[in-house]
Amino acid sequence: MGKDKLRKFSEIGSFDNVYQLEDGHALKGKWAAEHFKNNNPVVLELACGKGEYSVNLARLFPEKNFIGIDYKGNRIWRGAKTAIEEQIPNVAFLRIQIEQLLEFFNSGEIDEIWITFPDPQPQDSREKKRLTFPGFLSKYKELLKPGGKINLKTDNDGLYLYTVEKVKELGLVCHKSTDHLYDSEFYDEVLRIKTHYERIYLKHNKNINYIQFSFE
Ligand SMILES: C[S@@+](CC[C@H](N)C(=O)[O-])C[C@H]1O[C@@H](n2cnc3c(N)ncnc32)[C@H](O)[C@@H]1O
Repeated sequence: MGKDKLRKFSEIGSFDNVYQLEDGHALKGKWAAEHFKNNNPVVLELACGKGEYSVNLARLFPEKNFIGIDYKGNRIWRGAKTAIEEQIPNVAFLRIQIEQLLEFFNSGEIDEIWITFPDPQPQDSREKKRLTFPGFLSKYKELLKPGGKINLKTDNDGLYLYTVEKVKELGLVCHKSTDHLYDSEFYDEVLRIKTHYERIYLKHNKNINYIQFSFE
């Protein structure tokens, strides 16, 4: 690991808004009450990277709590540092593998999920690693309150089409879906938030896909 990565990695250990691995277990079922000290809805951003969605949604919706999840500490550092510097109280970060979600949140604890530009895992042999593979969807279903929505933003047309197909196949409710987000009727102040990877894809004129769905 490079010097800068190491520094960021060690710095997040002292941040009040970052929980790493088993430290987060104590908060299971109590994120709102114990970390955020309120009773507000909790929204997750999975594969958050630098946490642009978590931080910007927290700015837009002070009456909700946001938790960015990623296993790369040096990326989480960026969002956590911004939240500390700008004193944004309603955002926190959890450094874990997304596969472990059920160890850290109770059934029905979550109001909404964002999945922002996840690794598309295009090879057939990696299907189970896609964050919209049915194995992951069943974990999200367990965590979400009834009617809780899942939002996926991706540059990857294959992952988008795969997700559209799974939503149909599993009889889920599709609320919004577009393969050209910026030209669509859905392009509002929330979807205008851009992530680090999104900006890179934009430079290459890549279309951005978006789907919002729920289990009921
Ligand atoms: C392509 S990046 C996108 C980051 C950010 N959302 C963005 O748009 O800039 C994918 C992120 O997913 C994280 N990631 C991939 N698989 C993961 C897993 N199983 N658990 C936790 N994080 C994961 C990686 O560390 C990486 O930061």
